[in-house]
Amino acid sequence: MAKVADKYFETDQWKIIEHGYNPEYGEVAESIFSLGNEYMGIRGFFEEGYSGKKLIGSYFNGIYEQTEPDYGHYKGIVDFTEYMVNSVNWLYTRVEVDGEQLDLATADMEDFQRVLDLKTGMLTRSFVWNTKSGKKLRLTFERFLSMTEVECAVQKITVETLQGNGTIQITSGLDFSEKHQMTDENLWECGRENVSSNEEIKLSIEGTTIHTGKKVYSSAKIFADCTNVKEVLREKSVAAQMDFEFQDGSKIEVIKLVKNITLKDGDSEEEYEEKIAQIDDGKDVDSLFRETVKFWDEVWKHSDIIIEGDDENQQGIRFCIFQMFQTYHGAVKGTNIGAKGLTGEAYNGNAFWDTETYCLPFFLFNNQEAAKNLLYFRYKTLDEARERAKMLDCKGAFYPIATISGKECCNLWQHASLQLQASTAVAYGIWFYEKVFQDQEFIKKYGLEMLIEICRMLATRGDYSAEGKYGFYCVMGPDEFQMMVNNNCYTNYMAKFTFDYTLKKLGEIEQEDAAAYQKVVEAIHFENTEAVAWAEMSEKMDIPYHEDTKLFEQHEGFFKLPHVEVDEIPVEDFPLYHHWTYDRIYRNDMIKQPDVLMLMLLFNSKFTMEQLKANYEYYEHRCIHESSLSPSVHSILASQLGRHQEAYDFFGFATRMDLDNYNRNTREGLHTTSIAAAWMNIIYGFGGLRTDGEGISLNPSIPENWTGYTFRINYQNETIEVHVTKEKIEIKTEKGLPVSLTVYGEPVVLNQDVYTCPYQA
Ligand code: BGC
Repeated sequence: MAKVADKYFETDQWKIIEHGYNPEYGEVAESIFSLGNEYMGIRGFFEEGYSGKKLIGSYFNGIYEQTEPDYGHYKGIVDFTEYMVNSVNWLYTRVEVDGEQLDLATADMEDFQRVLDLKTGMLTRSFVWNTKSGKKLRLTFERFLSMTEVECAVQKITVETLQGNGTIQITSGLDFSEKHQMTDENLWECGRENVSSNEEIKLSIEGTTIHTGKKVYSSAKIFADCTNVKEVLREKSVAAQMDFEFQDGSKIEVIKLVKNITLKDGDSEEEYEEKIAQIDDGKDVDSLFRETVKFWDEVWKHSDIIIEGDDENQQGIRFCIFQMFQTYHGAVKGTNIGAKGLTGEAYNGNAFWDTETYCLPFFLFNNQEAAKNLLYFRYKTLDEARERAKMLDCKGAFYPIATISGKECCNLWQHASLQLQASTAVAYGIWFYEKVFQDQEFIKKYGLEMLIEICRMLATRGDYSAEGKYGFYCVMGPDEFQMMVNNNCYTNYMAKFTFDYTLKKLGEIEQEDAAAYQKVVEAIHFENTEAVAWAEMSEKMDIPYHEDTKLFEQHEGFFKLPHVEVDEIPVEDFPLYHHWTYDRIYRNDMIKQPDVLMLMLLFNSKFTMEQLKANYEYYEHRCIHESSLSPSVHSILASQLGRHQEAYDFFGFATRMDLDNYNRNTREGLHTTSIAAAWMNIIYGFGGLRTDGEGISLNPSIPENWTGYTFRINYQNETIEVHVTKEKIEIKTEKGLPVSLTVYGEPVVLNQDVYTCPYQA
């Protein structure tokens, strides 16, 4: 099934450019031009008001609302959901000339251009407005979010007069009155409204979410040389209405420095109040911008990917890297990454197993602090996972499939109750983090406790068969088109891995640091008999494998399911969830996303090429890639199998999934976690990076139409830069520290010199 690009934005290596405005792409552009700094995110909407289709979305990581749909008739079914709630529109602006309010849906406007600069994080929009009264004004709106002082953001409006003179009225405010679009409700109660315009223009307002009591205190200082100011207080909003005189050649500037303070789970009310009391302290606009540019400089220095000979993918991958850092960079300890980042309301801002499985590799090789803090989120929410395990009649911890606060938010019981992959992904994440950073302190302080609790869950959720094999019954693996299956290969394999790794860590820590071991063991009453039981479960784990064909069976009975030729499904039937009854998609061997193949990527070194080939060939043409996470995994394995054209075809839309709106749903928000998969697609796919064996290895290949590419990974305190052309591979390190790895199977120790070897096709 081919996905088709819907090209709208101009190609440029460092910028995303919209030239001329087409309202049909209005909401897509809002998502694409979203800005975020992990703490908050704002869609690229027109701040001056717009009567066309829009989503005025402003979000804060960890500021959520909840509803309680009436589902809970059976034990374990979740009757509760949390969603990242649309919050204060701190960009609120209205512009009026001679009684006409600017609205790009109706205005006479020309020379529209919007540019997102990936080097600075600045979003600039400019156009010429021909007012009904015959004035011609060029308006430029700029905005950026500070990447270092994450509570701060800046908006600048410039009005240049091209023709005419008169008075322009600009209203600038902080507005909590927007609705959360998904629920069609406004979920804020407001107080502490204040507008003052004596020496300086200052605004502030506090919003409190109705059901969860989360708070956002929004404040702004406005710098403007106006002739008159009027204070405007409306329900849930505060604003200053400013008058300016304009004449031919004049230039008016309004600069708004915003500071948003949040009170979320685990924050102290006292600190929140202290921050509010000090709201006037802090950096000026120029320093904030300088530091933000510096932040992005560092990002590009250490994490850029350069693609020679393919500007579209060059722009695409830089957009992906930019979005990853906008969404998360470890600044706020214990937060997570929603499947849509901070760019929209779809998926409720919930975090999934995507975090450990798809996003973590990106951070492990780009930003240790971020990787650590993502795992810390799972520690912080261990109690919620324990609660969830109880609800599901298990011991230990059952991590949620979808969550904000740590509580399970997924109302689809088949997913919430049957998918164990969020829990085993946490174990995998801890293992991966330890492998890359050898941070034993983290493992002792947080990791071991999580591992034990996950094992306890696995030991009570699974069972022995009549033949004495251990496995999991009535589960759903990563392929969400199969539910209530027995012995899903992925689930069983991951469980075995989790038992083995936990037992290894228990043994090591007991030996190396008896006090740390005792502390954990006593705190959670761990008994040695548990370890004995886990060892047996692991040994007897049922991994459905057929030696004759080298095939791993996705689950017991999968090979006997009725076959569907996925390539023959009419294109109008997609997305299938909308066109096939829910039960129909479960009744055959069609796969939503890699399941056995996912395993083969995660534990790549454990499988032979023969096994990989057999399973790839079997599962590949059964997969419809209904999840955007899916094609990159196939692309990576196709590269490994030397199927380079196929690898490139699957890669086809990975970097431009949202820029070209391949799934036609970018308006709902960016596919943030798939963006991480695009990064993996290049580094693990074409770069051939493997990280699950001894050390790390590279096996580079190059797509036919690229002349060369360069990528960087940050590993063992070094930035390793790999340059691949069709002639040779060059690898160098930033500082010249010795780093061991293998290249095309050959052991190499990198040092100050550039390592070079011929390209092996
Ligand atoms: C996928 C899941 C994923 C979720 C959020 C679903 O469509 O099947 O694996 O966790 O989207 O990205």
